[in-house]
Amino acid sequence: PPAPAPVASAPEAASAPAPTPAKVYVVGTDAAYAPFESQNDKAEIVGFTIDVVSAVAQKAGFEVKFVNTPWEGIFNSLQQGDRDLLSSSITITEERKQTMDFSAPYFDAVQLIAVKADSKVARFDDLKKLKVGVQTGTTGDEVVTKLLGKTSSNVKRFESTPLALKELEAGGVDAVVADNGVVIHYVANNPDAKFKTVSDSSFAPEQYGIAVKKGNTELLDKINKGLADIKADGTYDRIYAKYFGA
Ligand code: ARG
Repeated sequence: PPAPAPVASAPEAASAPAPTPAKVYVVGTDAAYAPFESQNDKAEIVGFTIDVVSAVAQKAGFEVKFVNTPWEGIFNSLQQGDRDLLSSSITITEERKQTMDFSAPYFDAVQLIAVKADSKVARFDDLKKLKVGVQTGTTGDEVVTKLLGKTSSNVKRFESTPLALKELEAGGVDAVVADNGVVIHYVANNPDAKFKTVSDSSFAPEQYGIAVKKGNTELLDKINKGLADIKADGTYDRIYAKYFGA
């Protein structure tokens, strides 16, 4: 068959290499964390995180594919190279910075206590002698373990935050400590659980970052550039308003 006519406006096309398709980066996310990352009824991964990272990727010129990844194995999946980046409402901590690199922060968070509406708990200290549910290996787990003691059998660890909250509803724990955004969302969407939230000024401010493998500056630079761009042009604010109101 005759060769297709050369494109007149691009005389160099014949010798130029075929354009390389945009690189697809695999994003690990524990999609049991609404409204940040969760699965809808079509099993699609959706949420604030997804919108932010998708917008960052679009700005920075790469593609992303979100893969549901259990929290407990998530850091390892990055280490092993099974995931290129992690975006899972991950709090940037000094300890985690030893083993991976983080983007600029993209969201502020703080721990929040969930209890039954009739609970007498009024501050974090009141949990000392109670059974407290947390998601294993989260910052919530860290603060509760510190308060109750490393060997305390009253720290009840769950694979996901919703599982801990279900156990609170069932009466198996007296309180759950987790990130404010996910607790507020759960309480608002599960009125039958009859929960209330208790805040405490002793909880340190936390910030979420996108994680890459230590030393992957090429990807990290792209992410940070994209993040700065979506913050500057209003995209970030629009996504924020969609999930959390203006
Ligand atoms: N921000 C907390 C942490 O980094 C909890 C994040 C849990 N995220 C999730 N998708 N389950 O420890």
